[in-house]
Amino acid sequence: MKRTKVIDALKCTNFGSDICVKGWVRSKRGSKGIFFIALNDGSTIKNVQIVGDEANFPEETVKRITTGACLCVEGKLVESPAAGQASEIQATAIEILGDCDNTYPLQKKGASWEYLRTVAHLRPRTNTFGAILRIRHNMAMAIHTYFHEHGYFYFHTPLITASDCEGAGNMFQVTTKNLYDLKKDEQGKIIYDDDFFGEQTSLTVSGQLEGELGATALGAIYTFGPTFRAENSNTPRHLAEFWMIEPEVAFLDQEELMDLEEDFIKYCVRWALENCKDDLEFLNKMIDKTLLERLEGTVKSDFVRLTYTEGINILQEAIKNGKKFEFPCNWGDDLASEHERYLVEEHFKKPVIMTDYPTAIKSFYMKQNPATPEGGSVGYKGCVAPGPTMQGTDVLFPSIGEIIGGSVREESYDKLMAEIERRQMDMTHLWWYLDTRKYGSCPHAGFGLGFERLILFVTGMQNIRDVIPFPRTPKNAEF
Ligand code: 4AD
Ligand code: MG
Repeated sequence: MKRTKVIDALKCTNFGSDICVKGWVRSKRGSKGIFFIALNDGSTIKNVQIVGDEANFPEETVKRITTGACLCVEGKLVESPAAGQASEIQATAIEILGDCDNTYPLQKKGASWEYLRTVAHLRPRTNTFGAILRIRHNMAMAIHTYFHEHGYFYFHTPLITASDCEGAGNMFQVTTKNLYDLKKDEQGKIIYDDDFFGEQTSLTVSGQLEGELGATALGAIYTFGPTFRAENSNTPRHLAEFWMIEPEVAFLDQEELMDLEEDFIKYCVRWALENCKDDLEFLNKMIDKTLLERLEGTVKSDFVRLTYTEGINILQEAIKNGKKFEFPCNWGDDLASEHERYLVEEHFKKPVIMTDYPTAIKSFYMKQNPATPEGGSVGYKGCVAPGPTMQGTDVLFPSIGEIIGGSVREESYDKLMAEIERRQMDMTHLWWYLDTRKYGSCPHAGFGLGFERLILFVTGMQNIRDVIPFPRTPKNAEF
């Protein structure tokens, strides 16, 4: 008999008809010679109930129906007398496809997140991880659909690169060289001419620079791929391998960039509300009772737009009124997560788009704001900053902090070169990037959304290690 997925079986009202389902046993209980199996095949958070009379099955078969075992069940679909389910299956034949003995690591309910990370090969079979992974899939579909519907082209940027987009030096090297036998020059620097690519290469930290090449040809592109960062940050929000979405758009200005960031995130959250109802309701019940309310609030609210300088003033005011932060937040300091979260969760109580960051804490490619004679600069809506600023435009979210990092790009060759020289950057590997500013340069802007940070927000989970199937973090590359 042809298999019916559990999600379809549960919708079926064709009572009395024969049906075949396959899946894994979530639980089995029995009373008075009747057994009840909760069977799940991953197609939905919901289980289908299998009912059987022990007398109709070999004793050996009934014994082998254990938590985690894989079954093929044939039977009749009937209306269920039990509350909470419309139908159930009265089993006529049960085949054990895969036995599961009592060493199965997922037998106990209520295992800790830490424990589940040690069994990441099996945790997708739990209710919570099943829900998260279905939502993760749906968010990927939302992203592709959003950009496709808005006329963006999916542009594939390389994962192996000779350039460091963010200039932070947090890159994983890619080499086929024998590490015990490296050729070095007189200064002790490694010579790469006999390495696979003939030069030093790494895994990319961002597809942005190549994305800009796409945008200045196709008008509007987006990337969606893995990125790699060898930063030794053991936090609930950092992974060494994460997925990033990077739209890049020609002729987009600062206000339009903010519009895009806001519209895009709201679209994704709305998609989740519309397409992941069962999974979100489960997470709302089991993980975070305010999840649905927060997601609905995000879709309805207007994000606050303010400059870094205005943000610092609010934080300084809070300190004056007795608020204590662990890290300093004077003008020029990089905002810590506690500062971002204060602004979003306590002060404004909604998402914030922050723009015009000090030049010294941002990347070289961002558009520079015009300078004042006193050494300051003028930015968004005429806001005056005490020092040089750039049109870096990040989105800060409740419980996450920075979810998007973006900017308007510096399109002037001379200004960009001056900044590169000021930073004493080695541009030998980026000559092609500078060509965009030499040949038909155009105003353009874009951003990077950390996919796992979006999933954290949409699921209400607390640790980024629990929203990707197999997390990569310092000292952990298992599975
Ligand atoms: O702010 P970031 O470093 O920006 C860029 O890489 C730009 N080139 C993007 C662009 O403008 N095209 O990273 C962008 C986002 C962050 O806001 C955060 O959501 C996520 O990527 N992110 C990380 N997510 C998980 N683990 C990490 N280690 C992350 N680092 C950044
Ligand atoms: Mg950033």
